Amino acid sequence: MEIDAITLYVNKTKYEFSIGNRFGQIPGSETLTQTLRERLGLTGTKKSCEEGACGCCTVIMDGDAVASCMLLTVDCDGRQITTIEGLQNPQTGELDPLQQAFIDEYAFQCGYCTPGIIMASKALLDKNPHPSDEEIRDALAGNFCRCISQYHVFNAIAKMIRKEGVS
Ligand code: FES
Ligand code: FES
Repeated sequence: MEIDAITLYVNKTKYEFSIGNRFGQIPGSETLTQTLRERLGLTGTKKSCEEGACGCCTVIMDGDAVASCMLLTVDCDGRQITTIEGLQNPQTGELDPLQQAFIDEYAFQCGYCTPGIIMASKALLDKNPHPSDEEIRDALAGNFCRCISQYHVFNAIAKMIRKEGVS
């Protein structure tokens, strides 16, 4: 059955969209990456390979890390989505402890891959606050960093595990 409207919950805000090919509507071919970046202005979700191979576009959907370039927005009706912009405290503007750990450990260089890596790490730590090295590697297997920041990423995640301060 074709749907003519959808509701997305992005960073705890409700958005309603109509589906179709008229101006302002979401066409059936639009990806979640496009909707987040181009309609909602959430450009922290990065666009790179657009074929599920790099992890730059990773967001959290209903608790799981997903490649938003591989999802059609029309298929996301009713889903809870968190982007990198949704991690900071909306009242104080304070960064999520995981974001701060990435800064403290210099876990990026150009930073293009970083939102995706943070969202994949966040999804892991929310479910499993004390992952093994292998579990971390598995969770980040789909996230590539051309600047080879992996070692520092591991340090940032290790810092979070030691702190047990995952929120
Ligand atoms: S842009 Fe989505 S996986 Fe590369
Ligand atoms: S920090 Fe540059 S691609 Fe990862």
